[in-house]
Amino acid sequence: MNEKMNRMEFLKSLGLKGASLFAVYCAASGLSSCVNESMDPTNPTGVTGNELILDLNSAAYTKLNTVGNYVVVSGIVIARVSATAFAAVTQVCSHEGRRQVVFNSGEFYCAAHGARFDTAGKGLNSTGSRGLKTYVTLLEGTTLKVTV
Ligand code: FES
Repeated sequence: MNEKMNRMEFLKSLGLKGASLFAVYCAASGLSSCVNESMDPTNPTGVTGNELILDLNSAAYTKLNTVGNYVVVSGIVIARVSATAFAAVTQVCSHEGRRQVVFNSGEFYCAAHGARFDTAGKGLNSTGSRGLKTYVTLLEGTTLKVTV
């Protein structure tokens, strides 16, 4: 355990982080060791490299199986917009930077001053005219991936 910790610290000291660190650490540790250490049963979803991985069977995200619902993960609003499609945008509004964007009645909405955005992040009124940053989503089975 100490040896692994030291190896991780050593890699960090080289300036590696995020996906690079994870990849190098996994390669150096051996795959089975890596998988065991990276599993967190209390939080089946997390940032892996530059992706958010959401298990739609986990309690925290089952609401995404219903059209019209949304969740907020790591500052990203992820909505089920149809039977087959999702949309993901930043939670930070482009109007005055409030972190108040939600999904409501088929569109993204900021309660601070009423900015409205469509599911592609395009502004629907003057307050929302600058649009929202969007993220690519991909559903694979019951796993939703959001590229961040
Ligand atoms: S900050 Fe969102 S509408 Fe003004």
